[in-house]
Amino acid sequence: MAIPSNLVKIVDLDKHVGKEIVIAGWIWQIRKQGKLIFIEMFDGSTYKTLQLTVKKNVLESPDFSDVAGLYRGASLFAKGELKEDKRAKYGFELLVKTIEILHPSAEEFDQLVPPDAGADTKLSKRHIVIRGPRTSSILRLRAKVLQYSREFFNSRGAVEVTPPTIVEAQAEGGAELFEIQYFNRKAYLTQSSQLYLETAIFSLRDVFCILPSYRAEKSRTRRHLTEYTHVEGEYAFMDFEGLLDYLEDYIIYVLKKVKENDKELLDLFGRNLEIPTKPFPRVTYKEALEILKEKGIEIEYGEDISDAPERTLVEHFGVPIILCHFPTKMKPFYHKINEKNPEVTNSADFIFPGLGEIIGSGERETDIESMLERMKSMDPPLNPDDYYWYMDLRKYGSVPHSGFGLGLERFVQWILGLDHIREATLYPRMLNRISP
Ligand code: 4AD
Repeated sequence: MAIPSNLVKIVDLDKHVGKEIVIAGWIWQIRKQGKLIFIEMFDGSTYKTLQLTVKKNVLESPDFSDVAGLYRGASLFAKGELKEDKRAKYGFELLVKTIEILHPSAEEFDQLVPPDAGADTKLSKRHIVIRGPRTSSILRLRAKVLQYSREFFNSRGAVEVTPPTIVEAQAEGGAELFEIQYFNRKAYLTQSSQLYLETAIFSLRDVFCILPSYRAEKSRTRRHLTEYTHVEGEYAFMDFEGLLDYLEDYIIYVLKKVKENDKELLDLFGRNLEIPTKPFPRVTYKEALEILKEKGIEIEYGEDISDAPERTLVEHFGVPIILCHFPTKMKPFYHKINEKNPEVTNSADFIFPGLGEIIGSGERETDIESMLERMKSMDPPLNPDDYYWYMDLRKYGSVPHSGFGLGLERFVQWILGLDHIREATLYPRMLNRISP
């Protein structure tokens, strides 16, 4: 089948008013009224649909009855005159002369994901769900966030690298590690590319990567996936304050870009994005416990601040906050111990209102003895031999450096105010979900 050379995309309609155009796409909605058929056509170039008006006496081919026999989901080329029409959903109407049916759909299309479908049906039929304005808008916004992130890192001179995601040594913690059989030995799916990024600063100074990370999360929450897109950066000659400053700039850059360029998408989700101002409130772990105590939530020093209290804490401020200086015992061996107070590390989580943690970050430890001691005291202890290459970084010319990891889906979830993280990725991977 020949593809017409002059296809117009719905996103570009305003340049073609009054002209005869050919449009390609799928039937999103179809309404038949005697000698008239209204089709809402979706083409993926925008969340907007185009109204096709098919009149029996105007349609040249195929037979009117062939068009009347089409169902939602069918793909077609439609040729006709493009008009502005205030009554049409998005202001344009195509008065159809010819339709070429590429592939029909079936009546049961409507029943695949009925309007009252539960979350499980929607996930099983996600390949169908993504065919609509809502999900395609989320995926488009997600792509924009990736684009703006790359723009920011590149503008600051960071170089994109792609470390392996099949690894021998864990980066974060035992319980959430996916083990795999790697020929005749054990390996893991990476939880974070941080350790490899740290090696790369010796080659490229400032680096970032945007790759999947894997967490064998057994918890079902609205912000956990088992595979997520991890935006990570690592910077040589950057201290803790420098890092927080950089990350504030990054967040503000992306949010401003979204607000400037993607207002329509934000409007679609009813979001009026408030751009946070620098500096974000800094709250030490210790202060956080005090604030929570005043609110009647008691957390023992050294215990994790879990989802609900984390949200209570950030609601107290009403803007994104930087929760910092976690106790040394709570954090992995690579976090730098604070010079003034060895009880705490130069670590920081960025907590966003209504959602919780979006960034985990910190200055990196460069003292090899301290690292070895902390690796041994972990449960189960880490074997420094598995990390020989990481230890070498501290032996041969170590420098002060800092880095971060941001969960892309959480960031998108927050920007659009999505109830559940599963909507912020093409095919979510969760405890009981690996299909499609
Ligand atoms: O706080 P985390 O565990 O930090 C690290 O992995 C560091 N090594 C990153 C670094 O410094 N390079 O994870 C970082 C971020 C979290 O703040 C969260 O946004 C996201 O990754 N994240 C998840 N997102 C979705 N589902 C999960 N199960 C996630 N676990 C972490």
